[in-house]
Amino acid sequence: MKKWAVFLCLGLLAILLFLTACRPAATPDRVETQPPATSPAVDDIQPTATRPAATPTAIPSPTPTPQPTLAPPAVPLDRIAQGRRLGRGVNLGNALEAPKEGEWGMVLQEEYFRLIAEAGFDTIRVPIRWSTHALEEPPYTVDEDFFQRVDWVIENGLANGLNVVINMHHYEEIFEKPSAHAERFIAIWEQIATRYEDMPDSVYFEPLNEPHGQLTQDKWMRILGDTILAIRRIDNRHTLIVTGAEWGGYRGLQSLRLPEGEENYVCTFHSYEPMLFTHQGATWSGTGYQTLGVTWPGPPATPVTMDPEAAKVSWVFSWFRQYNTYPYETNPAGPKPIRDAFDRAVRAAEQQGCALWLGEFGAFEQADMQSRINWTRFVREEAEARGMSWAYWEFGSGFGVYDRAAEQWHEGLLKALIPDVSQR
Ligand code: BGC
Repeated sequence: MKKWAVFLCLGLLAILLFLTACRPAATPDRVETQPPATSPAVDDIQPTATRPAATPTAIPSPTPTPQPTLAPPAVPLDRIAQGRRLGRGVNLGNALEAPKEGEWGMVLQEEYFRLIAEAGFDTIRVPIRWSTHALEEPPYTVDEDFFQRVDWVIENGLANGLNVVINMHHYEEIFEKPSAHAERFIAIWEQIATRYEDMPDSVYFEPLNEPHGQLTQDKWMRILGDTILAIRRIDNRHTLIVTGAEWGGYRGLQSLRLPEGEENYVCTFHSYEPMLFTHQGATWSGTGYQTLGVTWPGPPATPVTMDPEAAKVSWVFSWFRQYNTYPYETNPAGPKPIRDAFDRAVRAAEQQGCALWLGEFGAFEQADMQSRINWTRFVREEAEARGMSWAYWEFGSGFGVYDRAAEQWHEGLLKALIPDVSQR
């Protein structure tokens, strides 16, 4: 073979080899595009890097920090109906909110529940001092014997057809050092909610009686919010009864702030207006309340002479000047202060969208019985005229509607509260 022909053959061979090397590896297209014998579930198909997405995927957004939201209860309760249901009630005062039951002269008896129901009351409010029956340190365990005593109260209330409001009363330390006691307060409520989550809807939880002192509205709203979230993580059904600071008066209701989504609550406030009538001679009320003989309504037939110590307190001095001289309509022991306070409470509740429960009102035994009856009837009628439910303070001690020594109702007081029940 000629030399040039050899070069030509080698050149053609090199080109052939080069072209073969540059050719992409054969892909078994046909095989790969055949559907598998069993199609994978749509979710199993993993997109490959090269596979164009059929539809543009949404740009992933960062996972939001979970907000403490409240899951709706299985059967949501109507909060207005739950408020109305409380109807006419009485406080079982001076028993379980004493440091130890009995220390304030009142030990609850089984017969009281029947008496209360037969007299026509719908509800008992049970003031309870949990703070003297729980460990000081975590996990703040509530004493089992005390829990069993509260179980007994609830069972007896329910067995007599009464609604039962369980509250937290006289947690004195939280009024002095709110932040230091918030954790313990919430831990106690978690135990209460756990213990009673299976109770019927006629059991209500009231987080705190008359917040005051260092527990200002702002601090209380924060602690109350955390308490509600803690309760709701355990018990999403029972109706809560909430109040503002400043001793649970109507003012605190004007700026209530509850966790978003909380719908199942009743608003409450207390009224002892005028204090110089309802708390005359009450040793725990402090300076100014020593003057006795204050009647309701004012003005008195003969002017009342102030106790010399009380007269040194300027607001007390001017109150008595008005009480002794102003006519009924504008007298400080007349209808106006009560009606004004009730109207404001109603407005606050309307803004909040809650039913209103007057959880405490009452006049101490140092006032004359006729004045106590007059005042009690007036307050009860004004409350009912505004659609409020109420609970009188209290059953059988110093403000008592029941005379435990005589084993009978103070008939006039009872009629002032429940005029239309004859069965006693
Ligand atoms: C207090 C009682 C007091 C009553 C009337 C309640 O809230 O806890 O101790 O007797 O109010 O002043």
